[in-house]
Amino acid sequence: MLSLAYSLAKPLLFALDPERAHTLTLTMVERFGGLLPQHPPDPRLAVEIAGVSFPSPVGLAAGLDKEGVALPAWERLGFGFTEIGTITPKPQPGNAKPRIHRFPEHATLVNSMGFPSEGADVVLARLRSLRASGKWPSTPVGINIGKNKDTAPDDAHEDYAICARAFAPFADYLVVNVSSPNTPGLRALARADSLRKLLDAAIAGANETPVFVKVSPDAHPDDLEQSIDAAAAAGVQGVVAANTTTTRPEGVGEGLPGGLSGRLLRDIATPAIARTLELCTTRALPVIGVGGVSSPADAMALLDLGCAAVQLYTGLIFEGPTLPSRINSALAARLGA
Ligand SMILES: Cc1cc2nc3c(=O)[nH]c(=O)nc-3n(C[C@H](O)[C@H](O)[C@H](O)COP(=O)(O)O)c2cc1C
Repeated sequence: MLSLAYSLAKPLLFALDPERAHTLTLTMVERFGGLLPQHPPDPRLAVEIAGVSFPSPVGLAAGLDKEGVALPAWERLGFGFTEIGTITPKPQPGNAKPRIHRFPEHATLVNSMGFPSEGADVVLARLRSLRASGKWPSTPVGINIGKNKDTAPDDAHEDYAICARAFAPFADYLVVNVSSPNTPGLRALARADSLRKLLDAAIAGANETPVFVKVSPDAHPDDLEQSIDAAAAAGVQGVVAANTTTTRPEGVGEGLPGGLSGRLLRDIATPAIARTLELCTTRALPVIGVGGVSSPADAMALLDLGCAAVQLYTGLIFEGPTLPSRINSALAARLGA
C-alpha cells in the first residue's frame, strides 16, 4: 500500500526541484503522518546504546527532519530512533539555493544546505508542545546540534553548550556535529584540541544526557584517531560515522559544492566506518553507522561490521518509505521464525 503510494508519488516528486519536493513531503508527513500504517519492529531487534533502549537498530539520520516537524511519524515507518537537527542556537537561512542536487541513476544526492535552522527557541517550542500534546514518539529521539555560521571558531563551544543545555531535556542522546562540509571551518573543529573544548562544553551542558560525536568519512586516519581519542577522553558515549563526503566518486556532482550522500557514498563511508569501529572498540564506544544504506543488505553489512545501529537518509528518498521496515523484516528473518 505504502509502496504503491510511493511508486505513484515518486515521479511527481522527482519532477520537482529536490528541496521543494523535500519540503512538500515533509509537510505531508507532518499533516497526515498519523494516517500512515504502523510498522512496529520485531521485539527481538531491540538494542541498547549508551543506556538507551532502541526498539530497532535502524534510525532516521540527521538532516531529513531538521526541525522535528514530523517527529511523531517516523516510528510508524519502522524506524527504531529518529535524529533531528542539525539545529543552531540562532535562526539562520543556510546557503543559497539550489542546494540539493539529485542523481537518480546513482541514487545519490549532493547537498550544500549549510544548516538552515529555525534556531533553538523555535524548535524547543515545537518539542515542548509535542510533548505536552502527548504526540511525543515512543522511540528514542537524538538531537543533532551545530554552530551558527557567524560564530567565530573560538566561540563555537558556546554554541554547542547553548544547544546542549536547551535540548538535553528532550533528547535521548545529543550529537555534536563537526563533520558537515557546508559550514566554513566546521570540520576543523574536529581536530583534537578544538574538539575537546567543544565536547567539554557540550557534555557539561547536556548534564546526564549522553553525547555522541558525528565524524566525517573524509578525515585522514591519523586525524580520525586523534578525534576519537579526544572524544573518548572528554567522555562522549558514542560516535556517529559518517557524514557526507566532499569527494566525487565516478565524477558525480563534480563542480558542485557540498556533501555527497546515498549509494555512491557507501563504498567511501564503509572503510571510514570500519576505521572508526576499530578505534572505538578499544575505547568501548558504540558506533552508529551511516552512509549509503539503500537496502537490507547494506544495513546488515554495517551491523555485521560491528555497528551498534545504522541510520539512513538518502535511501529513503530513492527506495521509498518501506525501506526501514524492509530492513527490520530482513533482520528479523535472520534471527529465524
Ligand atoms: C540534504 C541533506 C541534509 C543533511 N543535513 C544534515 C545535518 O543537518 N546534520 C547532519 O549531521 N547530517 C546531515 N546530513 C547527513 C546525513 O545525516 C547522513 O550522515 C549522510 O547523508 C549519509 O547518509 P545517507 O547516505 O543515508 O544519506 C544531511 C544529508 C542530506 C542528504
